[in-house]
Amino acid sequence: MNAKFSKIGFILAVAGSAVGLGNAWKFPTMVGQNGGIGFILLYLLLTLIVGLVIFLAELSIGKLSEKDPVNAYKTLAPSYKNLWGFAGFSMIGAILIVSFYSLVIGWIVKYTLISFSSLPDDIKQSGELFQNFMSEDFTSQFFCFLFVFILMFYIVSKGIKNGIERLNVWLMPILFILLLFMLLYSMSFSGFEKAYHFLIFPELSTIKELGFFEAVFGKINENSVLSALGLAFFSLSLGVGTIITYSASLPDKTNFIQASLVIIFINILIGIMMGFVVFTYVFEFGGEVSQGPGLIFVSLTTLFSNLGSFGNVLAVCFFISLFFAGITSAVSMIEPFALYLINTYNFTRKKALAYIAIVVFVLGVLCILSFMSFTNGSLIFFGTKSVFDILDYLSSNIIMPIGGFCAAIFVGFIMKKEGLKILFSPYMNDFFFSLWYFFLRYISPLAIIIVVINQIYPQLFAYIFAYLKALFIFS
Ligand code: TRP
Repeated sequence: MNAKFSKIGFILAVAGSAVGLGNAWKFPTMVGQNGGIGFILLYLLLTLIVGLVIFLAELSIGKLSEKDPVNAYKTLAPSYKNLWGFAGFSMIGAILIVSFYSLVIGWIVKYTLISFSSLPDDIKQSGELFQNFMSEDFTSQFFCFLFVFILMFYIVSKGIKNGIERLNVWLMPILFILLLFMLLYSMSFSGFEKAYHFLIFPELSTIKELGFFEAVFGKINENSVLSALGLAFFSLSLGVGTIITYSASLPDKTNFIQASLVIIFINILIGIMMGFVVFTYVFEFGGEVSQGPGLIFVSLTTLFSNLGSFGNVLAVCFFISLFFAGITSAVSMIEPFALYLINTYNFTRKKALAYIAIVVFVLGVLCILSFMSFTNGSLIFFGTKSVFDILDYLSSNIIMPIGGFCAAIFVGFIMKKEGLKILFSPYMNDFFFSLWYFFLRYISPLAIIIVVINQIYPQLFAYIFAYLKALFIFS
């Protein structure tokens, strides 16, 4: 028997997993690149029709089996048990993610420390600082990573209740309060209004000029759709066994539909709050709207330094909140494989974690080395890809979609509908159940297939999209 979360512990632990660096860095960046509000609406839609649907499928697998991903599939599959067990091995994706993700949390630790002293005050200096840290300073990167590494394994070693639940019950509310403070402060800037028009509702003059559709959705293209879907997956921690594993500890008689909606709401709310904070400063001080990690580590630090010593306070709040968001996600990537080793080989938790720790440590150090200029590109593959990029690509673009696809097919076609109905009926009426079941069987697998095909033939989808858009606009 697993230890069970409390209801609020479950909600906060899953929300803690969902709310992560993705909300702070991928979300605002993608919103910036895809023109704001239109992208947010698209992301909301995909979160509901694909994200939530697969989320509930993974939750069912976890709750009905109360096991780790591999053993969950094996327990629930009526036949071909071992073959279905392989679907559970998508949890390897979570180990790959945590190996580079903890590195980024390490950068955040470094920047928290920098925020206590003096921040670089122009973009050029700030860029050099980041560049130097990334490609020359092995020692700092290594020790920041080591700190995060020890902390996250220590927390997971305490188990679901005393480690993971406790962590989330403390950090998630603090994260929210810090963000709220930053949000309120950002309201005193004129950049806030621009951020509002960018994220929530375009300016009336723009609507008059371009028409509503063009003002809202003008910057959406086929890549936006795919980015939004990828983000919905990553952000809800789908496809790599995290939701299955946490749901194995879902307390009985919990209204998990309500819990799931609360989790999704928290996830989006925090993404949008982050977006407001980031874009207010970007618009106020004129940084670039669409940048990668540089948005946070380069532009924002410079902007904070323009605010004098109060800027340091804000910077510390900002990086600490990112640190909290990151660490609560990181622990959720380790737990699935740990539970698998414990269940299957009767390992103690410590021993299971020791094995995982070795892998994460080696991959993490390889990532750092692949950034360093002294390795002279010997750890760069396919021309430009660092170990970091490869781990990100493998997990986000290959393992997560396959894992999500397997979960959808398994729950939609292999598991007995009756069992699911019994699980869902106290919390969901027949109409919504049938709707969910339909989406699970036909819509979400199709959406995933489109994403995968697009990776293989990027042109194909671009043509279809252009055709549909023309059809829609001219009809
Ligand atoms: N959802 C987290 C974020 O947005 C990342 C994350 C946590 C994750 N656990 C995961 C992603 C498991 C994939 C799988 O940053």
